[in-house]
Amino acid sequence: MSSRIPGFYRLSSKERFNIVTEGRGLSEDEVKYLSGEHALSMDLADSMIENVIGQIGIPIGIAANFKVNGKDTFIPMATEEPSVIAAASNAAKATYDHGGFFTSISGTIMRGQIQVLDVADPYAARAKIFEHKDEILHHCNEKDPTLVSLGGGAIELEVNIIQTTNHTMLILHLIVDTKDAMGANAVNTMAESVAPIIESITGGRVVLKIISNLADRRLVRARAVFSTEAFGGKEVVENIVSAFEFADFDPYRAATHNKGIMNGISAVVLATGNDTRAVEAGAHAYASVSGHYKSLTKWEINADGNLSGSIELPMAVGIVGGATKTHPVAQASLKIMGINSAEELAGCIAATGLAQNAAGLRALSAEGIQSGHMSLHARNLALMAGAKTSEIDKIVAQAVGEKDLRYDRILEITKAVQRGG
Ligand code: MEV
Repeated sequence: MSSRIPGFYRLSSKERFNIVTEGRGLSEDEVKYLSGEHALSMDLADSMIENVIGQIGIPIGIAANFKVNGKDTFIPMATEEPSVIAAASNAAKATYDHGGFFTSISGTIMRGQIQVLDVADPYAARAKIFEHKDEILHHCNEKDPTLVSLGGGAIELEVNIIQTTNHTMLILHLIVDTKDAMGANAVNTMAESVAPIIESITGGRVVLKIISNLADRRLVRARAVFSTEAFGGKEVVENIVSAFEFADFDPYRAATHNKGIMNGISAVVLATGNDTRAVEAGAHAYASVSGHYKSLTKWEINADGNLSGSIELPMAVGIVGGATKTHPVAQASLKIMGINSAEELAGCIAATGLAQNAAGLRALSAEGIQSGHMSLHARNLALMAGAKTSEIDKIVAQAVGEKDLRYDRILEITKAVQRGG
């Protein structure tokens, strides 16, 4: 099914809903949960977190025009921020005829960290850990036979010795291939259960046993070529490249630049029931691995004069386990994307982050971002001013035409329209 549906944004939400849910063959139940007809039950909510008293609805929109690795894909995005989905769709449109997004992933490997204190001879202890490598990995893998049967499990060990202000610490990394799971549960269980063995090998005292969100062996990469013509010409794309250089050199700008990328990434991570904080922590830590906080994307002008963008960041997301499995809307989102593996999901998420950054930099390098927000902002103000649904388009058109979004002016326009003006 093509992700390029002309005028998709002009359809009613019901029409868009039907296209996506019928096109993707969602079940009756999934349709009801996605539309909000079936709310998340209090029981299900209560089984997900503690002290439940309710829930908050975040809209899910579809970013159109995405082609990822040759396959047209609808991207479900859960966000409260206006303009994000329109921006991603517009950027995806500017790369569609250039083949869309191409992605790869370095693996589905996570690290569990085990902190060992009070080791008298840390270098000898490090050597002893490697002597017991098979026993340690075997013990870890016994804790998750399902993961092992799927081709995953603990595969390697790394041991670092770090000198802090007050301690010499031995830090063992359990390297675990978590396949289609995000992996926090599997890795944390392994790390906790192997701790007594590590204490007896090293003679030290294990304290922390926890996954690292700097998932540098689960790096996803996406690249795409965006049409210079569609982006407003040579000057705009040259400005985009200089905007990237600005972010790469200046952490104040990089924080906002990467925030724009995360507008896209976190929205898909949330829509698919994955852990937004884990992905965000990994992204920002990875942006600083060089010792300077930098851009997660790179922008260049290719030999044809078009804009060439790429992104690389850790992407610890899964399609089995946790809310990805238990939340009916997360399941619907995965079905809408036609996703069959964590690897595919990671690729689509990285593509969305790249598109979001392309769109943000394009607007900033040309007309600025406020004009894109104008009509949604005018809409909200018109509603506040008491406009009826049937009156809103007229009020918004007039306010945007006047480029005047003060509430008192919108109130005047609303009253005039209601008087039949
Ligand atoms: C707004 O949510 C995101 C931007 O500020 C990103 C950027 O500055 O690159 C537009």
